[in-house]
Amino acid sequence: MSDGTEIESQEKETAPTKKKYEFIEDLPGVGPATSQKLRDLGYHTVESLAMATARELEPVGVGEKRAFSIIEAARSSIAISFVRADELLKMRQNVLRLTTGSTALDNILDGGLETQTITEFYGEYGSGKSQICHQLCVNVQLPPERGGLNGAALYVDTENTFRLERIAQMAKHMGLEPEQVVKNIIYAEAYTSDHQMFLLENADEVIKANNVKLIIVDSLTAHFRSEYIGREMLAPRQQRLNKHMHKLIGLARAFNTVAVVTNQVMAKPDVFFGNAVHPIGGHIVGHTSHTRLYLRRASRGPVRIARLVSSPYLPEGEEIFKVTGNGIEDVSEEEKASKRRGR
Ligand SMILES: Nc1ncnc2c1ncn2[C@@H]1O[C@H](COP(=O)(O)OP(=O)(O)OP(=O)(O)O)[C@@H](O)[C@H]1O
Ligand SMILES: [Mg+2]
Repeated sequence: MSDGTEIESQEKETAPTKKKYEFIEDLPGVGPATSQKLRDLGYHTVESLAMATARELEPVGVGEKRAFSIIEAARSSIAISFVRADELLKMRQNVLRLTTGSTALDNILDGGLETQTITEFYGEYGSGKSQICHQLCVNVQLPPERGGLNGAALYVDTENTFRLERIAQMAKHMGLEPEQVVKNIIYAEAYTSDHQMFLLENADEVIKANNVKLIIVDSLTAHFRSEYIGREMLAPRQQRLNKHMHKLIGLARAFNTVAVVTNQVMAKPDVFFGNAVHPIGGHIVGHTSHTRLYLRRASRGPVRIARLVSSPYLPEGEEIFKVTGNGIEDVSEEEKASKRRGR
């Protein structure tokens, strides 16, 4: 239990400092009782604490002032503070990019998926969302000169659609050892939306220890959609989804990782023409996920169309790619030409 003596003995040390802290127990103001409570809340690392708000630490019971100074110390330790606009450029330079496997798809994303933001793929079943997730798990392990991040992947699977066979096929095609590649994918199946949230809330240590550079939640919305039914459940569902996304973005920023979520679509009943579909979760998911791509099938073949629907700074764009035995690939010029002739 956190008692008065612990608070007093720590209070003197909470002055702002530029010290680097490796473990949450090293932070001024964090004694054994507090650290246990922080861990119970899902804060196992200095990085994830740096992304917390004083309100989120309320259950720890240390009071707002001390919560704030703990967060401040964590922030100064990992160098997050107010920055001048010209320094923002430096922060942006820390953003890394991960290839999708298709140059065309990478191009509409200005070079691939970014770290520090969430990229959402939405579309109907079979549109290629999970295939892209599998491919990214392989690609993240590549060195930067091949479009990778030399890192591991964390895969939160809510529909039990993760397949090692697919990973092996894709790895072989990239010239990697499948046995090695699967060792760098940390897999967790989420059984309910609460479980799904719990997994992310406790992921920080695993991410740090394994050099995870890609976090996938496939699918973000399926559990929420099936558990929160009816109009009166809409508000609590959105609130939970919002919290979940907030956690994800915090992890992506704290550890400079790519974060990917997938989402199904619903038909829009109030629109009379066009293939009016929109992603589940509506605006909350839309506002938090910084980059959204809508995927659809071009025809019955392997070709898929990806549309960049929203991005903080890129124009809308559309490109085609294909899903084959090898994974995510570009559609060759010959294939494009023969398709045009066939039309
Ligand atoms: N080994 C393979 N070779 C070629 N194409 C494949 C292979 N495996 C999967 N595909 C293609 O990928 C499709 C499945 O795509 P994916 O699983 O990514 O869909 P999804 O968008 O995740 O759908 P859902 O909403 O149901 O999760 C298959 O229908 C097939 O066209
Ligand atoms: Mg899927």
